[in-house]
Amino acid sequence: MTQPVVIPSREPGVFRSLARVLPYAKADLPRLGLGIVIAIISSGFALAIPLTLEALVDGPLQTGNIALIWGTAGLVALLGLMEALFVYLRRVTVLTPGTRIDAKLRAAIYNHVQDLPVSFHDSWQSGQLLSRAQTDVSLVRRWLSFGMVMLVSNVITIVLGVAILFTWSPLLAGVFLLSSLPMLIFGSRFRQRFSGLARITQDQWGDVATSVEESVHGIRILKSFGRGSDALARFTTRASRGRDLEVEKGSTLATLGFWLGWIPDFALASCLALGIWLASRGELTTGELFAFFATAAVLAGPIASIGYLLALTFEARSGLDRIFEVMDETNTIVDSGEVIPPAAGKGSLVFEVVHFRHADTEPGTRDLIDGITLDIRPGETMALVGVTGSGKTTVTALPGRLYDVTGGRILLDGVDIRDISLESLRTRIAMAFEDATLFSASVRDNVLFGRHDLMDPESPDAQAILTQAIDVAEAGFVYDLPEGVDTIIGEQGLSLSGGQRQRLALARAIAAGPEVLVLDDPLSALDVATEARVESALRKVLATTTALVVAHRPSTVMLADRVALLEDGKIGAVGTHAELLATSPSYRSVISSLADTDQSPREDREVTDSTVELEIIESSGLEDDARLIRRDDEVAQ
Ligand SMILES: Nc1ncnc2c1ncn2[C@@H]1O[C@H](COP(=O)(O)OP(=O)(O)O)[C@@H](O)[C@H]1O
Ligand SMILES: [Mg+2]
Repeated sequence: MTQPVVIPSREPGVFRSLARVLPYAKADLPRLGLGIVIAIISSGFALAIPLTLEALVDGPLQTGNIALIWGTAGLVALLGLMEALFVYLRRVTVLTPGTRIDAKLRAAIYNHVQDLPVSFHDSWQSGQLLSRAQTDVSLVRRWLSFGMVMLVSNVITIVLGVAILFTWSPLLAGVFLLSSLPMLIFGSRFRQRFSGLARITQDQWGDVATSVEESVHGIRILKSFGRGSDALARFTTRASRGRDLEVEKGSTLATLGFWLGWIPDFALASCLALGIWLASRGELTTGELFAFFATAAVLAGPIASIGYLLALTFEARSGLDRIFEVMDETNTIVDSGEVIPPAAGKGSLVFEVVHFRHADTEPGTRDLIDGITLDIRPGETMALVGVTGSGKTTVTALPGRLYDVTGGRILLDGVDIRDISLESLRTRIAMAFEDATLFSASVRDNVLFGRHDLMDPESPDAQAILTQAIDVAEAGFVYDLPEGVDTIIGEQGLSLSGGQRQRLALARAIAAGPEVLVLDDPLSALDVATEARVESALRKVLATTTALVVAHRPSTVMLADRVALLEDGKIGAVGTHAELLATSPSYRSVISSLADTDQSPREDREVTDSTVELEIIESSGLEDDARLIRRDDEVAQ
């Protein structure tokens, strides 16, 4: 079943699109040029064969000089050999430039994609990025080291050959050229249709890659919900549309091939009739007539190949367009021109009327973060509490500049974070997220991920940091793994449970030894007992480290010196847990909803503020601290 294909109208800019590869090809241009020259020389040998034939027919063949006939035949063989040799040389010459440019382009894309901000990745499908960095780059390589070289040298061969035809007989050559003109019409029709098709097809393969990527990533969910066949159906739909497009492309190319194969023969037939008539009137020697057709025969190959080479060119063009759509995306989160050198800070983190909205937010709606002001003192632990979707995760992304604020500013030790170099900022602020991503590497490398300063991850210093971080994060289970901290984990290694991964992600943030720790509910997957142990260990780290901790569980709230309530994009209330429980009705309601979602087993009963509080204290094993809070409260009253 073939779907109709809508071809978008395209601006004429093949050369401008293709020229964009030049910066990556600069160093290899001489070699590519040499490849073209060698290709032209090999065509020269091919074109010299008819010249020799003319000499043979008009010379020794007429006079019957046997020695000369052998000599000329030998020359034809030699010319053929030289042609083959130069074709070989051309292939060898253009081999390395293509692969080198390929590697440079791939590296540039990877580097750029790495560099682009989170907001870019929010809106781009990974399959589209993957296919651009893979398939499209390959298309460009194939074009550079074959399509481009052959297109240039074949066009030159055709021009040269037609010029030679004119020297045999201007009249015949003129007729040949005239009867070949319809090829231009079909060529331009082909260009219109094919270049649009090439683009749609490449986009389609990007969608197919996305399907594969998503289903591999979500394989567990697909299996557990028994939705594998739906995923397969979606994949098949996308893949068969890709197939239809390829068939469409193929048949468009075949149509052009038909005309390019047939029209030169038609031109040749017209010339044959005219040529024999001219020869019979003595206006053309037999040798010239013979050579004319031999030359025209040499040209048939290059002419017929033009269609295929144009197809390669259009594919490379849309490949480059697709690559540069990514490369043209600018990274807005960069070091400002003037970077203030990092002061030996204590880690005070201040939000000053901070606003944030996603670029794709509908106009007229309020900012997601609608002016929050928060002063986190050095060494203080601030918990951030709010209902789901209130923007807590978004707030945690701001200090490390995963997103830039759209209004107001964030100060680290009194300096606007945009005036600190990104490298230094991200060394001073470490993060751990609820969704703990680990890399396919050893436990050691994963935990020490943020320590660029450690030259040798196996040195005693590194070992001490590793051990301490694992201790605090209660991640001692790693010592029981088959190869201890050297066990490879992540996608290519041992799979860990959600709670284990969260503990390693937490260890990674702690090992970074930051001034400010930003934790987005990093303990959500832990059982209550482990969480309590992690928390009491964390307490020691947090005593000296400034921390912003998103809490989905009341027990995590207990960890904090103060709590900030995020509601309607603003900070609704700030204070100690006890203060807020006493003074803020919305805090009480958020906290009790958190308690409801807590996984600790409990009987149904009426939830009052004090039962909530009791529950929190029980579930977190923080009775002593709770007593302290109570005493503080009494003192305050
Ligand atoms: N790229 C995006 N564009 C527009 N809205 C987004 C984007 N990413 C997240 N959101 C929205 O931002 C809101 C806040 O999300 P989040 O910070 O994760 O909340 P929380 O962590 O408090 O549950 C959600 O309603 C979500 O739909
Ligand atoms: Mg969140």
